[in-house]
Amino acid sequence: MPNILIIGACGQIGTELTVALRDRYGKDAVIASDIREGNEELMQAGPFEILDATDSAAIEKIVEKHQITDVYLMAAMLSAVAEKHPLKAWDLNMNSLLHVLNLARDKKIEKVFWPSSIAVFGPTTPKDHTPQRTIMEPTTVYGISKQAGERWCEYYFNKYGVDVRSIRYPGLISYKTLPGGGTTDYAVDIYHKALTDGQYTSFLDQGTYLPMMYMDDAIHATISIMDADREAVKIRSSYNLSGMSFAPEDMEVSIQKHIPDFKLDYNPDFRQDIADTWPNSVDDSAAQEDWGWSSKIALDEMTEIMLTNLKSYYKKESL
Ligand SMILES: NC(=O)c1ccc[n+]([C@@H]2O[C@H](COP(=O)([O-])OP(=O)(O)OC[C@H]3O[C@@H](n4cnc5c(N)ncnc54)[C@H](O)[C@@H]3O)[C@@H](O)[C@H]2O)c1
Repeated sequence: MPNILIIGACGQIGTELTVALRDRYGKDAVIASDIREGNEELMQAGPFEILDATDSAAIEKIVEKHQITDVYLMAAMLSAVAEKHPLKAWDLNMNSLLHVLNLARDKKIEKVFWPSSIAVFGPTTPKDHTPQRTIMEPTTVYGISKQAGERWCEYYFNKYGVDVRSIRYPGLISYKTLPGGGTTDYAVDIYHKALTDGQYTSFLDQGTYLPMMYMDDAIHATISIMDADREAVKIRSSYNLSGMSFAPEDMEVSIQKHIPDFKLDYNPDFRQDIADTWPNSVDDSAAQEDWGWSSKIALDEMTEIMLTNLKSYYKKESL
């Protein structure tokens, strides 16, 4: 049985990952940590530590205190925010990873999960069904940090036998926690605004297709790759992972099936330039073959889940 530390547990993914891992291993086997406190559900559901991912001594102390075996490193600065603070983003995204990899190299922990992103690709990458191995010339600081991170993961595996596992998450959509400043955040905002305002102005333009995924699929993939036999995880940089691919107008049609008067217009900003460098869709056959990945949730099903849950959230809010 692993003893798990999640670093960056209060974010969009960490919040749901913490719940899923606690359901699986019991609340006391999963230590949530972040530089700030999270929502009430997370804070009350089990052990929590305030932890700065850039402080290697502090991470080591918590690892020793709780006899941690597996670390899930979710702390990072995301794409849109990172463009505003490039060196801070590099510092957080790189140093946190190296601290955790060093703990694994020194055999203080056994297994590491670290998420990469579709941001590792760039404008010279083939856009449709982007292969696992292809041209990678990212032009955002976030993408550069993720690509460098992938190289470090593979290096630590080859050189020191570190058991590090990674997925290139697409844009993730969920209703429990707000997204943390990425380029695909519009795909969450749109559901909130559909319910509160009946209309949404998208910061990405019509025709902007991006790889996307509903959060349950992403959590399932994360747990699956960590559960897989060591030998099954053949790629130690990071795996492509595909859920669905859609543009804002596809979301409009999907939402109108529930809210017929919903209106979408467009006012693209700097995030359009980022989105334009990313793939439309990715080929995840390596993840399917190596550790049995398959996605389950498509756009219309996701729309139904999002609108149903957000509707009850706003109803409670207004009481
Ligand atoms: N959400 C997505 O769509 C998406 C897509 C691709 C990859 N990813 C990757 O998944 C990981 C988690 O993403 P997320 O969407 O949950 O991000 P998020 O921004 O929602 O959460 C990140 C968390 O890290 C915490 N954090 C920031 N600085 C910290 C520090 N110094 N020490 C400790 N904690 C710190 C924040 O407080 C926050 O709770 C990141 O590596 C991100 O790059 C996310």
